[in-house]
Amino acid sequence: MKAIIVTDQAAGFPGMKLVERPQPQPAINDVVVEVHASGFVPTELEWPSTWIDRREQNRTPTIPGHEFAGIVTALGYGTAGLSVGQRVFGLADWYRDGTLAEYIAIEARNLSPLPGDVDFKVGASLPISGLTAWQGLFQHGRLQAGQSVLAHGAAGAVGSMVVQLAREAGAYVIGTGRAADRQKALDFGANEFVDLEHDGLKDVGGVDLAFDVIGGDIQKQSAALVRAGGTLVSVVGPAEARPIDGLAIDFVVEADRGQLSEIVQRVRDGRLRTNIGKVSSLDNVVATFNSAQRRQGKPIIQIRS
Ligand SMILES: NC(=O)c1ccc[n+]([C@@H]2O[C@H](COP(=O)([O-])OP(=O)(O)OC[C@H]3O[C@@H](n4cnc5c(N)ncnc54)[C@H](OP(=O)(O)O)[C@@H]3O)[C@@H](O)[C@H]2O)c1
Repeated sequence: MKAIIVTDQAAGFPGMKLVERPQPQPAINDVVVEVHASGFVPTELEWPSTWIDRREQNRTPTIPGHEFAGIVTALGYGTAGLSVGQRVFGLADWYRDGTLAEYIAIEARNLSPLPGDVDFKVGASLPISGLTAWQGLFQHGRLQAGQSVLAHGAAGAVGSMVVQLAREAGAYVIGTGRAADRQKALDFGANEFVDLEHDGLKDVGGVDLAFDVIGGDIQKQSAALVRAGGTLVSVVGPAEARPIDGLAIDFVVEADRGQLSEIVQRVRDGRLRTNIGKVSSLDNVVATFNSAQRRQGKPIIQIRS
């Protein structure tokens, strides 16, 4: 099968290569899925799990990509509930070969059925950003109607989901980002927008929940804005996200079939809009990722048309 691999962390995006790899076989609890579309988080090449396994040994060459939509082609032992030919989407294991490939072997529990009226590209755009937003707001942040949310990077992949889900839950949402993203953040439903490049956070009053996707000073300043009893949730990597005074909840998104079903249902009935950015193919993904153009929204790789 065709797949993208990376072997050298220092090489960055130019180190990505399109190669032939053996087709994966399903182990216990696994299914094999023919990948139709994959999402990609550009910071993935900085994550330790891209380069080392759970015993901290080199695991390259690695196939990147952790979210996707496709069709089940083979079932391993113990995968009751899924069937060959079924449309699925989901979040792949951080430490296994990923979704920038024609096929993936993945544990059945990481998958959710993809309704027939949802495009594979839409399905592929939802697992990481949708589940991250959902888990940060409702599980870790325990968001209640009437509370206020500071949603950083509100025009980005995670941030746009945070804005929409928080608004739907009855929160007041202050989106942030670069000046150029003001209208996009407001279009996703932010009640107001803070331009971090020119205005910073100095005029933001207290908030009940700050959702950080940026880290560094922005995270520190956000922590100071959280009211007593409130929460700062952060998803930026281990280097940035040391808890501040016990206030920050630093989490990594987990697969959850029920939550994915809730998310895709919202897309179907128009309550949630995806934020798909550039769509490329396996053949031109290396060129796309190496382009100097600013990325906007979730990059999608269409593996089959
Ligand atoms: N722990 C987890 O489970 C988890 C899950 C999902 C994502 N993440 C992490 O969360 C981060 C965001 O992911 P994403 O997919 O939402 O990325 P994204 O689509 O690039 O969104 C981030 C947004 O924030 C903006 N931004 C970043 N730094 C900024 C700054 N200093 N001032 C103003 N705006 C700024 C970006 O603008 P520019 O593009 O112009 O910088 C972009 O609009 C990444 O670091 C990713 O690795 C973690």
